[in-house]
Amino acid sequence: MERFTLTDGVTDTMRAAYDRDGFLVVEGLVLPDECRSLSARIDDLIAGYQAPDNPTVFGAHAADRYFLESGDDIRFFFEPDAVDKSGRPNRAIGTALNKIGHALHDLDPRFNAFFRSAAFRILAEGLDLNDPRLLQSMVIFKQPGIGAPVGMHQDASFLRTDPPSVTGFWIALEDATLDNGCLLAILGGHRGPLRKWFGRVDGDVLETRVLDEGGEAARPVPLEVPAGTLVVLHGLLPHASGPNRSQRSRRALTLHTIDGTLPYPEDNWLRRRADMPLRGFE
Ligand code: FE2
Repeated sequence: MERFTLTDGVTDTMRAAYDRDGFLVVEGLVLPDECRSLSARIDDLIAGYQAPDNPTVFGAHAADRYFLESGDDIRFFFEPDAVDKSGRPNRAIGTALNKIGHALHDLDPRFNAFFRSAAFRILAEGLDLNDPRLLQSMVIFKQPGIGAPVGMHQDASFLRTDPPSVTGFWIALEDATLDNGCLLAILGGHRGPLRKWFGRVDGDVLETRVLDEGGEAARPVPLEVPAGTLVVLHGLLPHASGPNRSQRSRRALTLHTIDGTLPYPEDNWLRRRADMPLRGFE
């Protein structure tokens, strides 16, 4: 795995690595103080959490309205092992969460400022992203001992334009290692086809369709990175992450952009209110 910094902007070598591998690892993008400050903001959000009438376990009740209507809101999703039968957390919220999403970049001033800071704009321009619009942002937790794995997938299955244009920005707020569930990626796998379609059928029903039966011939490589590292992920790159079997937390942030000049079909799971149009990096 090649590692870069943004000291000299996005260089030809970095562009070549991204085109070849389907991802780009940029170390030291977020300084330690800012990692701590972002984590403190996450703790504030957690402290302000109010349980909805019908909380959702991410992955177990994907069709729940709480999830379907989270595209233009800040909502909380729990680890399946950290909730009781009614879906209520069975431990302190801060150690039960799987995700917070999905419009932090527009609704929370701290995350708005972070995701619209110069580094992201420089990366988007340097990688020639066309009219990047910020669509989805998340805090992703891998709780010590219970943080669940995420299966191999392409982000373009979940946030669809035609042709695919989604780009992921994944930021480690804490060291990510094989032990605590770092990213796993298929080197160069972004040159393959889109394998799955995930979206709405009849409005509120979520469905996954297989578009290409081909499997992954290559073994994924672990992207073990220190806190403060940003990984740019091509939307067609197959990637996953392992479980957190360690006693160390693994917090990360993600941002997904799409090309604002392409249509965003209504059957995408993630919807936004008409009065919250997608904005760019500015
Ligand atoms: Fe992903």
